[in-house]
Amino acid sequence: MSLRNCRIVKVLEVSPVGQSNSAGDFFELKLEYPDWDGWKPGQFVMIRPTNWELDMLWGRPFSICSADGTSLTLFIQSVGRGTSRIAKLVPGDEVTVWGPLGNNLAVEPDTPTLLLAGGIGIAPFCGYVEQHSAPENLKLFLAHRLPLECYPYEALCGKVDGQSMIDRKPEDLKAIIATLKDLIREYAEQDGLILCCGPTPFMKTVQTFANEFGARAQVSLENRMACGVGACLGCVTKDGEGHHVQVCTRGPVFWTDKVEL
Ligand SMILES: Cc1cc2nc3c(=O)[nH]c(=O)nc-3n(C[C@H](O)[C@H](O)[C@H](O)COP(=O)(O)OP(=O)(O)OC[C@H]3O[C@@H](n4cnc5c(N)ncnc54)[C@H](O)[C@@H]3O)c2cc1C
Ligand code: FES
Repeated sequence: MSLRNCRIVKVLEVSPVGQSNSAGDFFELKLEYPDWDGWKPGQFVMIRPTNWELDMLWGRPFSICSADGTSLTLFIQSVGRGTSRIAKLVPGDEVTVWGPLGNNLAVEPDTPTLLLAGGIGIAPFCGYVEQHSAPENLKLFLAHRLPLECYPYEALCGKVDGQSMIDRKPEDLKAIIATLKDLIREYAEQDGLILCCGPTPFMKTVQTFANEFGARAQVSLENRMACGVGACLGCVTKDGEGHHVQVCTRGPVFWTDKVEL
């Protein structure tokens, strides 16, 4: 990433999605377009509001949902100090943005492709569906704990085949795991492509079944990050050979047989 890709841009809009004013808030953050040459679904940005004090030194990473030459849109769940302060930004506030960062999700337009999202892990799939040239080959499965309207699920289902399952009780989790197993077996049998983003236990389950059935699958990791450009080593994970690698520069997308979760 060159310095050209680190910009200060203005907030255009902050729109609550689903529930508001309670834990688990979701919102869409629309920023001025950072004048990129291009970006690919699965890549992410680091953002840091310029009015953060020294107690909030580091930016926060978010998947790019869309970026169309006039604006950059992120879909965010408020989970802690940084995200709850980002939720309070108002139009005109300034944010430092650096990106697009990391590698991208595999795209094979003619291949049946299964998108597996756990909760806010649906975010990178917004851009993926938007840019895909054959969305009829995509199927989205969302496992979620909070109400469905918190996620951009309905909007995506207008474009691709969708299935969602809520995870509230132990029986729900068993049903989700059984469904993941069936779906991954089905896509492995047709040499399809599987892309997954969600909490680590969700991705581990997908990795286990992908290995069992020999499926071609990628996971997009959401490790904690500070610099986003490979310098701080705050985000390291182990690759398939046990070597430490930075998720921000070597990932966040990894083939399931090339990463330890
Ligand atoms: C490549 C990448 C893409 C991401 N894309 C999105 C996205 O599109 N939308 C979105 O809402 N979030 C996304 N995340 C997660 C997001 O960056 C974190 O939720 C955010 O940094 C938390 O900041 P905070 O200051 O609010 O939380 P903190 O106050 O630092 O922590 C609050 C709680 O959140 C947990 N937490 C902190 N960082 C993460 C993390 N990276 N992943 C999971 N839990 C975390 C902490 O363990 C703690 O329990 C992404 C992360 C990565 C690495
Ligand atoms: S976040 Fe600093 S090395 Fe990855």
